[in-house]
Amino acid sequence: TDTTLTMNNGVQIPQLGLGVFQTPDGKATSQAVTWALQAGYRHIDTAMIYGNEESVGQGLRDSGLKRRDVFLTTKLWNDDIRSGRAKEAFEESLDRLGTDYVDLYLIHWPAQGWQQAWQDMEELYRQRRVRAIGVCNFQQHHLEELHSISSTKPAVNQIESSPQFVNQELIDYCHGELRIDVEAYSPLGGTGGSVLSDPRLESISRKVGRSPAQVVLRWHIQRGLVVIPKSTHQERIEQNAQVFDFTLDEDDMKAISAMDSGIRAGADPDNFDF
Ligand code: A2P
Repeated sequence: TDTTLTMNNGVQIPQLGLGVFQTPDGKATSQAVTWALQAGYRHIDTAMIYGNEESVGQGLRDSGLKRRDVFLTTKLWNDDIRSGRAKEAFEESLDRLGTDYVDLYLIHWPAQGWQQAWQDMEELYRQRRVRAIGVCNFQQHHLEELHSISSTKPAVNQIESSPQFVNQELIDYCHGELRIDVEAYSPLGGTGGSVLSDPRLESISRKVGRSPAQVVLRWHIQRGLVVIPKSTHQERIEQNAQVFDFTLDEDDMKAISAMDSGIRAGADPDNFDF
């Protein structure tokens, strides 16, 4: 059901992951994680601030899969960036997840102090506590600054991308010389979004015989992105994994990209304060 990309440090990342932003801690999260792993997902994306790392760890153990068969991501929160607590925060995340490493550790936002946090994360990487390190919500100017102060390239930049906010320029920059893999968050347009009921998408959906969500996820995959759709419903989690057995043609791809309204579902990385 899945394909992998090889990141710029040589480590493989499954192109489909389950996102658990806003999935409540407890049974809802551990269930969603177990359903996803049963449906063939091999990648789970959480964050300290989501408050559900413990349940993600529980879901992983409940699945019966070996830890090394699952690609696990978590993120360093802004408060811990600002207070210089990257290493402590990392250990706390591992404790909650119940594991002794993560596959990918990400700076969640370019909060004040991210440059020092990056150095701390480089050390975790050198010590092999993490298989890769990366960033989220970095604009081109943040990546340029990072490149100027560090010889370690981020393996990943996790940014908002969906048919309503395609973010193509930043994606092209990442995919250029730096070969940074891009992970699309809110790939379906985010919570309460209206992308999935857009008539332009519905006509493609009818033509290819797949749901609008599957069409959008396939569009991301064909653009070479990693996608981390969120759902708490078993049938949607399963449906969202069935995206490796059909293709969209060039016209469909262009039609979906043309839906871009430039309006974000989430916060603007150049204008946030949290
Ligand atoms: P739910 O968790 O109730 O299934 P994103 O990944 O872009 O943040 O979007 C997730 C939103 O889309 C969630 O509100 C999720 O709701 C919904 N969603 C996820 N998968 C599907 C699907 N296959 N069909 C319809 N809605 C979906």
